[in-house]
Amino acid sequence: MNILHISDIHFGPYHWAADDKIVLDRLNAFPADIVLNSGDMTSDSLQGEFEQAGAFLAGLVCENVVSILGNHDKYSKRSHEMFRTHIYDGPFIQPKDTSLVKKKKLYISPKTARLNDYFTDVNFLRLFEIGGEKVLIVGVDTNLFQSDSGYVDWQILAALGDEIDKLIYDRALLLAHHSVLSTDEDPLINSKRLTDFILAQNIEATFCGHTHEVDILQVTDVINGGIFRQFMCGSLSSVNIPRDKNMFCTYENFGTSNEKITVTRIIPTADGIGFIETHLGE
Ligand SMILES: [Fe+2]
Repeated sequence: MNILHISDIHFGPYHWAADDKIVLDRLNAFPADIVLNSGDMTSDSLQGEFEQAGAFLAGLVCENVVSILGNHDKYSKRSHEMFRTHIYDGPFIQPKDTSLVKKKKLYISPKTARLNDYFTDVNFLRLFEIGGEKVLIVGVDTNLFQSDSGYVDWQILAALGDEIDKLIYDRALLLAHHSVLSTDEDPLINSKRLTDFILAQNIEATFCGHTHEVDILQVTDVINGGIFRQFMCGSLSSVNIPRDKNMFCTYENFGTSNEKITVTRIIPTADGIGFIETHLGE
């Protein structure tokens, strides 16, 4: 399985001025079986930004593209509806018991907004057949409404767990915007809930973004056993250069002895865009 990982595209004012077509061509040159987009497609959750993100993602030749919301994508009361319209139209997982929900603004009050859908969280399960294997992608919305910090509701995780138990699959990967292992100043504040979920569900790896830095970690549960890796990809197209070193990551033969991880830096030049590949572990 070949995975292409992109993150933090940030259409809107945080998006750089370089030619996205050149980046798209480079992304499409990698023979991806699946593309994982770990969120922050927009700067301010505006309709036009979601439209641009949808058009960009539609330009990927890979048929299996999975995206999750980031904190910047959840600044609007209509974020979940715009995600449905321009990125992916569910079905989304509902909390197991709504009376026990702790996440703030998981539902917007019908008294304060006129919406089609008052449930704001975007969590989903998607199964793909890749190279003879059934690969389950668990999409978890770690974002709090109109906040940069993250939070996961245990009733959502409970419902996801119940649905996962009904499925037959060979491998499970998790896609979320916030890191569960290494945090910045806007962390997933109850990351232990998600870490426990990942270990309990035997999820092989998590893919995230948010910090605009590349970072790959491996965790072992010393008491109970269990192991997983976390792949954090930097921003694809941030305007904030050189602080953000724009990049994408590719994982060839993921999880096998022939695994090859490549970080491709994307650097604006006087006459276009330069790409510098680094093969990790070589
Ligand atoms: Fe973010």
